[in-house]
Amino acid sequence: MKPPFPRTGCVYLVGAGPGDAELMTLRAVRLLRQADVVVYDNLVSKDVLDFVPPEAERIYAGKRRNEHTLRQEQINALLVKLAQEGKQVVRLKGGDPFIFGRGGEELQTLAAHGVAFEVVPGVTAASGVSSYAGIPLTHRDYAQSCLFVTGHLKDGTADLDWPSLVRLHQTVVIYMGLGGLPEICHQMMAHGADPALPIAVVQDGSLSTQRVVTGTLATMPERVKQAGLKSPCLTIIGEVVKLHDSLAWFTPAMAVTAT
Ligand SMILES: C[S@@+](CC[C@H](N)C(=O)[O-])C[C@H]1O[C@@H](n2cnc3c(N)ncnc32)[C@H](O)[C@@H]1O
Repeated sequence: MKPPFPRTGCVYLVGAGPGDAELMTLRAVRLLRQADVVVYDNLVSKDVLDFVPPEAERIYAGKRRNEHTLRQEQINALLVKLAQEGKQVVRLKGGDPFIFGRGGEELQTLAAHGVAFEVVPGVTAASGVSSYAGIPLTHRDYAQSCLFVTGHLKDGTADLDWPSLVRLHQTVVIYMGLGGLPEICHQMMAHGADPALPIAVVQDGSLSTQRVVTGTLATMPERVKQAGLKSPCLTIIGEVVKLHDSLAWFTPAMAVTAT
């Protein structure tokens, strides 16, 4: 069988999905099993890391909010160095590397240094987390479009395009929106959204610790505070959230552990 790696160093930018290891692609699993080095982020679950062979080096690159273990430039330089040493490097990121994952920035550095790379897409949180919460992002009765935005507001100030968020028949998915949730709900209502618009916040989607809290734009900041939700959380706003009550299928007891 043809070996999966070329003999020279290469960086494989791999999406690990939202947490449940069974949501990884076959290609992701194959590359992980044969890597020399795996450089992984905070959101990569333990079950996913179980696919890394014991002889492979593991480097934690961090990136919890306000706690970057390695700065982005250091990660970029590390990837270049490892590949130039002839290693097969898996750069493992939660979800999909090209969606709020800084994957493009890392590849630009690799390209500038003439380092070979490939990209393996992953199930992004919007898709994986909404599925495990029983919330279809589109539905002919409720939403004909879906918008992915980051809720990581710079210095607490709101720099989102609010009018585009309050369109009818649209689902809005907000990554990194937990801290900014009160501001997001406030701004959407200030820009004309119905205070009764349904909203869900899902913590640890697809994992045994998954929690789903639902409410409305008006009630959600207080509900989330009372529930004590912690990152990572995905926020889903729109009429489709109503479907959670009848379509929720996943219970934490169903979470599988990789073998
Ligand atoms: C830096 S972004 C990375 C997104 C990732 N590249 C993707 O495609 O899913 C991190 C954000 O993704 C969301 N997220 C990722 N995994 C999640 C999970 N299992 N449950 C809930 N939210 C998740 C959260 O909003 C979190 O703050």
